[in-house]
Amino acid sequence: MNLKDKQILLGVTGGIAAYKSVELLRLLKKAGANVTVAMTEAAGHFVGKTTFEVLSENPVLSDLWNDTQSSVTHIDVAARSDAAVVAPATANCIGKLAHGIADDALTTTMLALTCPVMICPSMNTDMYQNIRVQENLDILERTGMHIVDPDSGALACKTVGAGRLPEPWFILDRLCALLAKKDFKDKKVLISAGPTVEAIDPVRYVSNHSSGKMGYAVARAAENRGAKVTLVSGPVNLEAPVGVDRISVESCNQMANAMFDNLKDADIIIKVAAVADYRPVNQENKKIKKTSDSTSLTLTLTENQDILKTIGQSKRDDQFLVGFAAETNDLETHALAKIKKKNLDMIAANLVGGKESGFKADTNKVKLFSRDGSVKDIPLMDKSEVAHRLLDAILSKAG
Ligand code: CTP
Repeated sequence: MNLKDKQILLGVTGGIAAYKSVELLRLLKKAGANVTVAMTEAAGHFVGKTTFEVLSENPVLSDLWNDTQSSVTHIDVAARSDAAVVAPATANCIGKLAHGIADDALTTTMLALTCPVMICPSMNTDMYQNIRVQENLDILERTGMHIVDPDSGALACKTVGAGRLPEPWFILDRLCALLAKKDFKDKKVLISAGPTVEAIDPVRYVSNHSSGKMGYAVARAAENRGAKVTLVSGPVNLEAPVGVDRISVESCNQMANAMFDNLKDADIIIKVAAVADYRPVNQENKKIKKTSDSTSLTLTLTENQDILKTIGQSKRDDQFLVGFAAETNDLETHALAKIKKKNLDMIAANLVGGKESGFKADTNKVKLFSRDGSVKDIPLMDKSEVAHRLLDAILSKAG
């Protein structure tokens, strides 16, 4: 998630879910945003102003009359905001915003905004479904605000239904999507991510250390930029990116089939997955037992199909194919050889082994080699930022 240098207004109103806005603030800051919090008096009954002040490293707008800054502060904050998100947004706040009522620090600031606004309603199900609340949400939507539907589930009022504030990571993702340029609109992107696991027996397997973080970051970035994304994923410990069609697979053969099934429609294919090059010849259907007469076990492996190479051999001219290569040495030589061998348009190569750009790291550093001979360095940065730089490079070549 990348909101570097973005000015974000975080509005907090008086709902029980206000505790989640503390985590949202932390995530916004981690994504590089400069956040100003505007909170209602009721929000202060749930979370203290000091918490927001300390975490945002900015003064909090909470009282039009007693805040220490000048009385025009809310106008200044509104003018410099790149986006605003109100989470949680109570029925009362939604009603005020829909009808232009500005009677506190938050609603006054909101009325002066000209930037994109996201509203995250959160309340009891009956309140949320109340016709007046729904009409007010319609008004907000019609006037250009983006409404994030609440989740369904157990609510603090001991009922079960719609009204729960979505998790902070989800709200952050939707905010990134709201702010992202839509230069991948109408593009269909097929991505593979994570490792493959090749069964030895029902409890053991051959695999590698891929976490899937880089592939998922590419999928998220492409979706945020308007692409229709299909993500073929090996086993990873990551949430499916919002708005992405995820197909879960285990082995190389399953990954190959899922990729081939979705290939025809794809404009851009990005193979980030760390596919196991070999699999056991025999996959036992019962657990292999230790034998008392032997201290060693020989596992015979056979080569897996090279999915990327097969795609490269059959791809259409209007399809753009990108591979990834993790190398421990001679980066350029290996990368260029793979472009040729697998008929790629581009390869993103990185040296593994370092703590900052390994499989499990949140950061990466890659070199992009293109078929036309051009080379682009992407220095060490967050994997989400690397993903955006990669998409920029793809767009500049694929058009
Ligand atoms: N790849 C694939 N199918 C395989 C092996 C690799 O599709 N069976 C793809 C990966 O998804 C990646 C690219 O090929 O995009 C490069 O993977 P890498 O493991 O670096 O290359 P290999 O061709 O396996 O060569 P080596 O392991 O010898 O470096």
